[in-house]
Amino acid sequence: MIKTENLCKTYGKGEGSVSALKNANISVSDGELVAIIGKSGSGKTTLLNLLGCLDGADEGSVFYGEDDVTKFNDNQAADFRLRHIGFVFQFFDLLPELTAAENILLPAKLAKTPADKYREIIDGLGLAERIDHYPAQLSGGQQQRVAIARALINDPEVLLCDEPTGNLDEKSGKEVMELLLKMNKEQGKTILIVTHDREVAAQCSRVIEISDGVVA
Ligand SMILES: Nc1ncnc2c1ncn2[C@@H]1O[C@H](COP(=O)(O)OP(=O)(O)OP(=O)(O)O)[C@@H](O)[C@H]1O
Ligand SMILES: [Mg+2]
Repeated sequence: MIKTENLCKTYGKGEGSVSALKNANISVSDGELVAIIGKSGSGKTTLLNLLGCLDGADEGSVFYGEDDVTKFNDNQAADFRLRHIGFVFQFFDLLPELTAAENILLPAKLAKTPADKYREIIDGLGLAERIDHYPAQLSGGQQQRVAIARALINDPEVLLCDEPTGNLDEKSGKEVMELLLKMNKEQGKTILIVTHDREVAAQCSRVIEISDGVVA
């Protein structure tokens, strides 16, 4: 279970500061598929970054089970991220100088895990034929599937996805959503998806709405 308690995040100081998240309390059970929606600038990415220990909170806690990850130091946070959380971003964020295979295996290399699901993952995502290509040689849909494979390589319990279909055409977007739904149904992954797309949100079991930094 993931639970936040009075989570607050302000960017900057003084007059120009932006209060991006105000006392956010959410809880997500194991195996849930949750959409996070809200207007541009409402704090969705901020929330996801805090849930993923990619950024520190000003106040409040983020619990994964009993562990409050906001108390972790940088090394602990990095280690926790590598082992327990997979990230999928809108612009794929693949390393351009690495092949698809090298991108996918990078988190396993960093975490020194055996990557024994590699074959199953790339076959399941239909990437086998393109595995030695560089990101620039892949379509958007293929790049996003590589990013999903990378997110799955250490077999995390949780996937955090920030507009994973936002930069894809309709067909590729649908395929990516189907893959995420499958990961949720068949492997019980807990998945949080930030999205602007009503159709995507409708496929999730629950919707969390954020408005101006406040969870509705
Ligand atoms: N690094 C930063 N420095 C200063 N302000 C920031 C920073 N990151 C985000 N903000 C501000 O915090 C608020 C919330 O931003 P956030 O990125 O969480 O919104 P969002 O809901 O993800 O929006 P979008 O749908 O456009 O991606 C916005 O007003 C934004 O301008
Ligand atoms: Mg965002």
